[in-house]
Amino acid sequence: MIATPAAEFSTDKGATRPVLMDLKNITLRFGGVVAIKDISFDIREGEIRAIIGPNGAGKSSMLNVISGFYVPQQGEIWFEGQKRPPMKPYQVARLGLARTFQNIALFDGMSVLDNIMTGRLNKMKSSLFSQALWWGPAEREEVENRAQVEKIIDFLEIQNIRKTPVGRLPYGLKKRVELARALAAEPRILLLDEPMAGMNVEEKEDMCRFILDVNDEFGTTIVLIEHDMGVVMDLSDRVVVMDYGRKIGDGTPDEVRANPEVISAYLGVAHE
Ligand SMILES: Nc1ncnc2c1ncn2[C@@H]1O[C@H](COP(=O)(O)OP(=O)(O)OP(=O)(O)O)[C@@H](O)[C@H]1O
Ligand SMILES: [Mg+2]
Repeated sequence: MIATPAAEFSTDKGATRPVLMDLKNITLRFGGVVAIKDISFDIREGEIRAIIGPNGAGKSSMLNVISGFYVPQQGEIWFEGQKRPPMKPYQVARLGLARTFQNIALFDGMSVLDNIMTGRLNKMKSSLFSQALWWGPAEREEVENRAQVEKIIDFLEIQNIRKTPVGRLPYGLKKRVELARALAAEPRILLLDEPMAGMNVEEKEDMCRFILDVNDEFGTTIVLIEHDMGVVMDLSDRVVVMDYGRKIGDGTPDEVRANPEVISAYLGVAHE
């Protein structure tokens, strides 16, 4: 039988897509604490890649390594086939990475719209001088920024709160605004640190739907830290499992669910 393009892009995105980011032998220490111990894994174009593990396993630290916020003592990060030199987080952002935080990091006094606009800062090329004069490229850029932000506001269904100060919003909506701000950067890779923590069932369902829609409609690669195993199993193409800074599992949701080391880490049974 002749393979159709549809067959090539089957549901198993993790196995069929090209590697976008390759993390090789990453070790990260904080003084005497080894937060990440010699971990390697890759992230493929267009997949939803989950990182799971018990509290303190090193998941947020790993996201911070990917985003350039922490520079590991050992290991290499390859992006699109090139070794990434040590970079500042804003330089990594320019490569096309955007993130949300485990604890919400928005400007409470600013409106939803203005918070989302801050996500465009990395995209702005024209100087403050030309922006002040409102000329040529700066004007075009402003129009483009506004259009992109409006698209995201529609997409995440937050039109009715666009002028509301973020500090007045309930928790679930704040998380959605954080996602909107990250999307405003039009990232290649979106890093989400526990986007559903503290949400009620309905808010979680909404967030799940938005994550899947972002992945589907924009083709955005997503790296997701999440504690709710049901959510992880539903959303992700592949899962990395961390425990005490080590990688103890890596594969499809079904594979990691059947992995004895993963089961024992989650059940709190002593390792053999
Ligand atoms: N900035 C830091 N300075 C010192 N130690 C840190 C720092 N950040 C993390 N750690 C330590 O590194 C280890 C991993 O922490 P990390 O926050 O990455 O875990 P996590 O898997 O995200 O946990 P949680 O599920 O609770 O969010 C922990 O022992 C933590 O105390
Ligand atoms: Mg964490």
